[in-house]
Amino acid sequence: MSYQTLLASIEDNICIITINRPDKLNALNKSVIEELSNAIDEVYTNPEIRSAIITGAGEKAFVAGADISEFLQLDESSGEALARKGHQMVFDKIENSPKPIVAAVNGFALGGGCELALACHFIIASSNAKFGQPEVNLGLIPGYGGTQRLTQLVGKNRAMQLIMTGEMISATDAQQYGIVNKVVEQSELLNEVKKILAVIHTKAPLAITKVIECINNFDHTQQGYDFEIKKFGECFVTEDAKEGAAAFLEKRKANFKGK
Ligand code: COA
Repeated sequence: MSYQTLLASIEDNICIITINRPDKLNALNKSVIEELSNAIDEVYTNPEIRSAIITGAGEKAFVAGADISEFLQLDESSGEALARKGHQMVFDKIENSPKPIVAAVNGFALGGGCELALACHFIIASSNAKFGQPEVNLGLIPGYGGTQRLTQLVGKNRAMQLIMTGEMISATDAQQYGIVNKVVEQSELLNEVKKILAVIHTKAPLAITKVIECINNFDHTQQGYDFEIKKFGECFVTEDAKEGAAAFLEKRKANFKGK
């Protein structure tokens, strides 16, 4: 895993992906999108990797948005293509990853940076983090899922206000809105996420994948329940479900194999 715009390493089965353009506040240019796509593919396929963390290099920014310097030459069709490509290559792939992907937001998460964090399965932030969708300042709207994922998370009225004003909110306000699960000091951020992932790694991997699928398919109608019912049934095909029940009954720790 060698990249120009990312750092990637594997520690304790966690792939740590760091967007590494600190002089441009880790803005998402074409190369970052392409390399992130490859890094996420690696998360999907490398059996050594059980989960991933996405964070930004430096102490100032997670990601301060899409790279504005690439915007001047866009027209309607190339603008649409840019957004569609980002969705397909990165944002949807993160959201639908069979392995947990957590955003460790260490500073500005603006525009595409906020959307990148929102595409992850959950977000832990440092106390200096700031969240916002400032696209309207540029005559634009969010294009990497912000109008959809933010609305789902915070509700219509808050999403309307955040996206129409372009205002930035603090990590603690983002926690209060339900965007962020926990706020910690910046020096503790990666350790905190690693601790949470270590807990998840003790669970049955195929069950974790089904949790992601069910929650991503949230639908408060019979369709949502039917999806969950089907996935619940599928668990019983796995060796791990048998192992989990047997271990409980035998009063021992389960030894899950991901099968
Ligand atoms: N795209 C491209 N370059 C960006 C960028 C982005 N989204 N965000 C920051 N940068 C660059 C700046 O141009 C600057 O580069 P330079 O040193 O070559 O001039 C560098 O990163 C540092 O940013 P700067 O603006 O000097 O830092 P600051 O502390 O004064 O302000 C922000 C920080 C985040 C408030 C400010 O950079 C900002 O508003 N960025 C744009 C956010 C945005 O609109 N994102 C949505 C894009 S759709």
